[in-house]
Amino acid sequence: MKHLLKMLDLSKEEIIDLLNLADQLKYEQKNGIEHKRLKGKTMGMIFQKASTRTRVSFETGMYQLGGNALFLSSRDLQIGRGEPVQDTARVLSRYLDGIMIRTFEQKEVEDLAEYGSIPIINGLTDFAHPCQVLADLMTIREYKGRFEGLKMCYIGDGNNMANSLIVGGLKVGMSVSIACPNGYQPDATILEFVKEYGDMFTMTNDPLEAAKNADVIFTDVWASMGQEGEAEKRKIAFKGYQINDELMAVANDDAMVQHCLPAHREEEITAKVFEEHADEIFDEAENRLHAQKAVMVRVMEN
Ligand code: CP
Ligand code: NVA
Repeated sequence: MKHLLKMLDLSKEEIIDLLNLADQLKYEQKNGIEHKRLKGKTMGMIFQKASTRTRVSFETGMYQLGGNALFLSSRDLQIGRGEPVQDTARVLSRYLDGIMIRTFEQKEVEDLAEYGSIPIINGLTDFAHPCQVLADLMTIREYKGRFEGLKMCYIGDGNNMANSLIVGGLKVGMSVSIACPNGYQPDATILEFVKEYGDMFTMTNDPLEAAKNADVIFTDVWASMGQEGEAEKRKIAFKGYQINDELMAVANDDAMVQHCLPAHREEEITAKVFEEHADEIFDEAENRLHAQKAVMVRVMEN
């Protein structure tokens, strides 16, 4: 594995290998076993959008692996003043061992990988959030012990999280159902991808239908970063696309709830359901650290 650009690029074997390594690194960290596998390496982290989890977990993870992480805000980089990403990629490749980038367009991430000569990790674009989904799959396996035979459900916007969960969930062997309003469906490339999976994938406008007998239920904000101007319009479009008691009642009794965070209580999830499932949700947030350490080791360890 050279880069982590999107879940579509990973094979099932690569995903399972990353999850196994993440479990191992988590065990080593919890038990004080040294795992400085990236000693002397430096990774740049370019942020064109805000972040709490991604920034802190990557920076901490790199430190625990014995390397160094540089926080590079696009406000300070020349990229923010129009220097092309193709040039930025070639320059940073001369200094760094890897780049993590959070930006808007997926093309920018793909261009970095094409023009640079070092590993690129996608820390979220409008299209994909692969690091989050690896942490999500890790958490599901921790709680459920398996993927085969499980039903994953996603309620809400067909955004970066939906795009990545659908691909990740199907690749590891879960069935995936999604409920989203018309006009807010996942990306066309994802809807093309799911055709290979027949009735393992279903999409509907009815959240209760999607959640029926689900083992794990996901949601995400109605307005993602960059869509703040559409927030009011989206509140109307997404009314009813909420994880609440009524929805949980049709899922399996032991269904988990996952949320990539930040969460907007009483919009996509009620405060009650959020708090009832807080352990699962914050384990999911913690697993960002372990899953991303696995990604960094796989792409940067010689
Ligand atoms: N879930 C996630 O990526 O969180 P941040 O935006 O805080 O990084
Ligand atoms: N869909 C959200 C995810 C945040 C982690 C966004 O892009 O803002």
